[in-house]
Amino acid sequence: MSAEYSTVGKGDYREHALEAVMPDGSYTADFIYKDHLIYEGKNKLENMPSARGEKEACETLEIQLYDQVCDVTLTLYYTGFYKSNVITRSSKITNHHENSMAIRKIMSMQLDLPQSDYDLVTFDGLWGRERHKHIKPLSQGRFVVDSKTGVSSNRHNPFIMLKKRDATEHYGDCYASNLIYAGNHYEVAEVSPFGKTRILSGINPHCFDWKLGTNETFQTPEAVLTFSDQGLNGISQNMHHFVSNHIVRGSWAKKERPVLLNNWEATYFDFNEEKLEALIQEAAHAGIELFVLDDGWFGERNGDNSSLGDWFVNTKKLPGGLGGLAKTVNDQGMMFGIWVEPEMINHNSRLYEKHPEWAVQIPNRRPSQGRNQMVLDFTRQDVRDYIVESLVKVFSSANIEYVKWDMNRNFSDMFSLELPRDRQGEFFHRYVLGVYEVLDQITKVFPNILFESCSAGGNRFDLSLLCYMPQTWTSDNTDALQRLYIQSGTSYGYPLSAMGAHVSAVPNHQTLRSTPIETRFNVAMFGVLGYELDLSKLSKGEKQIIKEQIAFYKKHRALLQFGQFYRLDDIFDNNIASWMVVSEDRKKGILGLFQKLTNSSPAIDIIKTVELREDAIYTISNRKQFILADEKQDLIKEGMKPVETECYEAYGDLLNRAGIKLSQQFCASGYNEKIRVMNDFGSRAYIFEQKD
Ligand code: DGJ
Repeated sequence: MSAEYSTVGKGDYREHALEAVMPDGSYTADFIYKDHLIYEGKNKLENMPSARGEKEACETLEIQLYDQVCDVTLTLYYTGFYKSNVITRSSKITNHHENSMAIRKIMSMQLDLPQSDYDLVTFDGLWGRERHKHIKPLSQGRFVVDSKTGVSSNRHNPFIMLKKRDATEHYGDCYASNLIYAGNHYEVAEVSPFGKTRILSGINPHCFDWKLGTNETFQTPEAVLTFSDQGLNGISQNMHHFVSNHIVRGSWAKKERPVLLNNWEATYFDFNEEKLEALIQEAAHAGIELFVLDDGWFGERNGDNSSLGDWFVNTKKLPGGLGGLAKTVNDQGMMFGIWVEPEMINHNSRLYEKHPEWAVQIPNRRPSQGRNQMVLDFTRQDVRDYIVESLVKVFSSANIEYVKWDMNRNFSDMFSLELPRDRQGEFFHRYVLGVYEVLDQITKVFPNILFESCSAGGNRFDLSLLCYMPQTWTSDNTDALQRLYIQSGTSYGYPLSAMGAHVSAVPNHQTLRSTPIETRFNVAMFGVLGYELDLSKLSKGEKQIIKEQIAFYKKHRALLQFGQFYRLDDIFDNNIASWMVVSEDRKKGILGLFQKLTNSSPAIDIIKTVELREDAIYTISNRKQFILADEKQDLIKEGMKPVETECYEAYGDLLNRAGIKLSQQFCASGYNEKIRVMNDFGSRAYIFEQKD
């Protein structure tokens, strides 16, 4: 049997979409078709972010089901988005009975497939290694990915894929699902003894218990489903199109994003006006467009143990205030942005002195701290009002054009003093709704600020926050090699314009690895480019290289941020990996080629493209990049040296089908201008341009 939305008590023994104590006290629910509606476009969900769907872009089917015994209605929503090949789904339950009911589990979608020869692809990790791809063959039983941390989490992203066992990046049947939700999520793949597969996605039932009184309604978040017979890249194309056109919104949605310099890894908490001004000058000189002042500008915050909640400027560090600093930045022709972490409170803060009851904690129990901080109880209206008021004040106090919205701990001691004892099972979801309410208000007051969400790097990289904030800080890990995995993993479900990617110093602060400055850029340019290092500590050569990198990025930014992205050789399986972006008209493309480790006597490298026009001739040239003397001391005597020049011409069909051979990598047989010295963590970028 295949079902659209399975319930308890009527003979389906697989995992259910709905589990509730119904108004008659039983767990059995039996929903029968009552009515349906079909209309153009789609409606917004009331208290949470959802996909935007104009009339011409999509069509919605609403199916109303009814349980007569319990007098409960269940509505299933399906919206088909023509151009993205996406169907969004959600469900809504209304209790008309005089008795209340308790929802223990309510999924956003269920998908029953008649076969089971699938691999489940998930994106898992922790801090600093977010969204690494894992593939597991399904077999009888259940496999669950979820989050219980209170946020969508770096442990398991809500985005999952199901691929036919023989499907690859480029070929074969694949399905995918994501959830527009910032809180605890739950995805299940179950293969039944009959060899069928069921997929579910929705709010995690963990600690979830929602009381639904008479005439009350509960709406689930929206799930996003897609299918492609063009392999995993086909899924990514669908998801990227959908995110760019139906998730990200506002004035920055399709606008090229500025190249930024963030002071975090340059100074951490240890800055003053003078230090920042030096950085600002260097940034302007390099061609940076946005200067971001990270953590430490407010209250008495000189470390991570105080002042969260005290959203007023620290005039000891910044005597001219945010206004003064913004002016300095603007005078250098750049935009100014700041960091905030509105959902948190430190014990050591004025706010805590005044409102200890606003911190999430359980009476008579010492709350566990995370990064020396507690979560603010966003289920409370007074807390949300205070935060909105404080942020409006800060963001209006200077010419602030960018905001990084951080959130640096997972939940513990979940409890709200405002909720009755028997409704604490609503805490997690009410918190998420509270965050949405605040974000909704703030982004309405400041429609032109570019918001970037962050959560200890990529601990909350999800579609719901992208509805408010067009880009997300992908990971605190800026090591170029690690970023290849993180950005590859992230790219399966999210477009490049959603991923913040920075060039940082070496040895890298997260891994202590040193990678070439050009590789750090080649990786970061496949995302929204930023720099996060003390530019004044760089050599003249490095400064020159950065200047050229930024100029290159600006020239090709529209393509790099909004072009169609493909994974060509997957980093998870290969020593050499490659990514490519192609313009919509397929006249232009940029290919990044990355090497993990050098091999002695390396094989010939061939780059093979996708989607170029078969009958058109393309010129192919490598980006002008440099090797620094300290990277290759015995080969290069002077400070820096341009790498080999490669230049080819070929038809698109040759490039797509056979590929072209690159010049030989260094292999102990001497060095000349044609030899490609890649070395460990080396990389190149190739530009493809159609000849008229
Ligand atoms: C965690 C973020 O991911 C970092 O980029 C930085 O903003 C710190 N928080 C600041 O505390």
